Amino acid sequence: MQRHSRSGISRRGVLIGTAVVAAGAGAAMFMRRSPPPVRPAGVPLSTYTSKTTAEEVTAGLDLSGRTVLVTGVTSGIGLETMRVLALRGAHVIGTGRTLDKAAAACASVPGRTTPLALELTDFPSVVACADAMRALEVPLDVIVCNAGVMALPNLEQVNGLEKQFVTNHLGHFLLVNRLLDRVQAAPQGRVVVVSSSALKWADPAGIEWDNLSGERDYNPSRAYGQSKLANNLFTIELARRFAGTPKTANCMNPGAVLTELQRHAPEWAVTLGRWVGPAFMKMPAEGASTTCYLAAHPLVTTVSGHYFIDCNPVSPGGNPEDPAMAARLWDVSAELVRPYLG
Ligand SMILES: NC(=O)c1ccc[n+]([C@@H]2O[C@H](COP(=O)([O-])OP(=O)(O)OC[C@H]3O[C@@H](n4cnc5c(N)ncnc54)[C@H](OP(=O)(O)O)[C@@H]3O)[C@@H](O)[C@H]2O)c1
Repeated sequence: MQRHSRSGISRRGVLIGTAVVAAGAGAAMFMRRSPPPVRPAGVPLSTYTSKTTAEEVTAGLDLSGRTVLVTGVTSGIGLETMRVLALRGAHVIGTGRTLDKAAAACASVPGRTTPLALELTDFPSVVACADAMRALEVPLDVIVCNAGVMALPNLEQVNGLEKQFVTNHLGHFLLVNRLLDRVQAAPQGRVVVVSSSALKWADPAGIEWDNLSGERDYNPSRAYGQSKLANNLFTIELARRFAGTPKTANCMNPGAVLTELQRHAPEWAVTLGRWVGPAFMKMPAEGASTTCYLAAHPLVTTVSGHYFIDCNPVSPGGNPEDPAMAARLWDVSAELVRPYLG
């Protein structure tokens, strides 16, 4: 049971709210004060920065003839990613948790879009989404694994597994695996996974293999961090499997972006974020730039297995780059969704 103060705000609510607001402010200040990022060798650098918008990153690109699947287009970074890629001529398959929500989002942007239903916590829904994508009978040039949920205040489970791990990692793992042959059919298929600097909130030992249910001990931020660490690990193992083919897999941190992601934070923290956020956070116009860069830019055509921030590669060091942890996560994930892998 949560303890409430006289104002009705729970102690846990204060902690989550403060963490949410502080995370954005902290990230912005950290980026200003931290030493220069470590760059992986051999990956081209772009001239883009944290201020570059997705429209600027894709200026001059003609994406007509390309098909891009973007998950979670009903708000925030996903919606802007869909808007900009469609603006440049791509056919964007935009997913929402219901077909109605996806259709409304698709109808809100100009260009060629097709809505599909995808509820990542419902594996039959993931399979149905992949089947509907296959039924379109077009090569799939890019999958953008964008949809996500952050810091659920109380433990929620799906099939006995912690829900952020399922939503942010496992559902996307299943979706991508069900569509790999479609990506293979594209001239240069790409998988882009939206991760977060919050991967540092994961347990220092990495994925908590004995606590994927969250039951041993649940912490909203640590569970979110674990799901984002899983995003990076999934990417590097996928890139390893893509090696020797034209396909690429990369992940990225969009930065602190003012979106609906904080919807599970207490009302007062959301309101505070809306007031002070614009001073230090990106808007979705900038927040979608690295996604669009990795999805479409010619400079990263042959780049695979890397983590990007502000359209440039960064070596996160430690667990997010651990190939053994990545291989184990792949095996564990495959086992968890085995009946749905096909
Ligand atoms: N905003 C930031 O500062 C920030 C920073 C680092 C990383 N990110 C990452 O960026 C990605 C996009 O987040 P955002 O900031 O744009 O947040 P957002 O505005 O909340 O958008 C999240 C999207 O994911 C969808 N979604 C949530 N749960 C889902 C589920 N179970 N099945 C299918 N779709 C689901 C949402 O659909 P509904 O609207 O129907 O719920 C929505 O379309 C996430 O992966 C997030 O972790 C964001």
